[in-house]
Amino acid sequence: MYWEPYSNKRIKKTVFSALEQNLDYRHKPVLGLPASYLDTEVFYQDAPFLKDAPFLSAMIANPNHIGCHTLNESESAFEGTQKIEAELIQLCAKEIFSGKDEAYDGYVASGGTEANIQAIWILKRYFEKEFKARAEEIALVFTQDAHYSMPKAASLLSLKKIILPVNEETRVLSEESGAVLSKAKESGIKYFITVINMGTTMFGSVDDIDLVTKWMNNLDLNYMIHVDGAFGGFIYPFADPDSRLTFNHPKINSFTLDGHKMLQSPYGTGIYLTKKGFMEYALTEEANYVKGKDYTLIGSRSGANAIAVWMIMRTYGSEGWKMKIRKLLEKTERLCEQLDEKGISYYRNPFMNIVTIKANQIDSRIANQYLLVPDTHDGNPNWYKIVVMDHVTHGLLDRFLMEVNKI
Ligand SMILES: Cc1ncc(COP(=O)(O)O)c(C=O)c1O
Repeated sequence: MYWEPYSNKRIKKTVFSALEQNLDYRHKPVLGLPASYLDTEVFYQDAPFLKDAPFLSAMIANPNHIGCHTLNESESAFEGTQKIEAELIQLCAKEIFSGKDEAYDGYVASGGTEANIQAIWILKRYFEKEFKARAEEIALVFTQDAHYSMPKAASLLSLKKIILPVNEETRVLSEESGAVLSKAKESGIKYFITVINMGTTMFGSVDDIDLVTKWMNNLDLNYMIHVDGAFGGFIYPFADPDSRLTFNHPKINSFTLDGHKMLQSPYGTGIYLTKKGFMEYALTEEANYVKGKDYTLIGSRSGANAIAVWMIMRTYGSEGWKMKIRKLLEKTERLCEQLDEKGISYYRNPFMNIVTIKANQIDSRIANQYLLVPDTHDGNPNWYKIVVMDHVTHGLLDRFLMEVNKI
């Protein structure tokens, strides 16, 4: 896991030179595109600070990154910044998820929801094309703690849902899950699109892939795995040196990770990564007006988003990012120690920055005052979570801890 940090000067030079390689609506004859730079009445282009602001300059230039830029030729008008996106995809696949030397495919999506749906869509098409699977023979397997984008995907793609139960205390997949899979097989399901969590939304829990593959192999199931690292992708691989959730795992086909969570990039920076040979299953042949056609769910999307993620990763470099994660984990540990002292029960994965407190142990008014997120807004919650992000300072945690007591 290594990528070089770039100086601010080098980042500016790379982004501005990419923008220069893009089509510039001001200087080239562009008659056919249904787009332009941002409205100049509102976003004026001669603001003096823009020369020092590569991301804002990219926003104003408004490059469209429609299509997939790791796969084939794309719209040449935005070639310069598309190359930055392609570099970002390889960087994430190889340096965060231990990809090998070969290239990977992927793109910067609107968010984790889209990246998960893209992954599930691709695996559905894979089973349909390679095994002539019928929709009713394919199921989406996910855990009780998985994000709601899974039922959303199942509904959109007409997939049967198989929900694996977890232990209420440990959030570990419970032994009943094996029986759930066995029943699904008996009911006629032949193909299993399986989602493994790298950091669940509410608990930050990480599924044991070996447990899942053991059940699936014992039942001789035909399955493929997508890892939802929307939240955990920018923290867990940096914290757990023995992570089994990498591209080296033969059954893992793809990952979701979100820039707009841990990385603090703007919204619209979900990332979908896949092994080579799979993006093609999402080809929309009819995308004739797009050079290179379209392989993504979204269609047009802002190139500035990919630049924002790339800039953050290049500013820190891998070592800088690891340091930042280390500090966040230390802060999380301190919070846990103090909760322990107060006898307040919580769940926490030691490699994650989420602490989920049992709702019946603390005063709900304090939970609301500090905007702890409940597991449900309908009725009484069972849990409240704290996510130790950059803005969650030691001081803020101390204030919370001074007020909170075990009920
Ligand atoms: C684990 C997980 N997956 C997917 C998502 C969906 O991400 P987005 O809101 O960017 O679509 C979230 C959002 O919280 C998440 O926590």
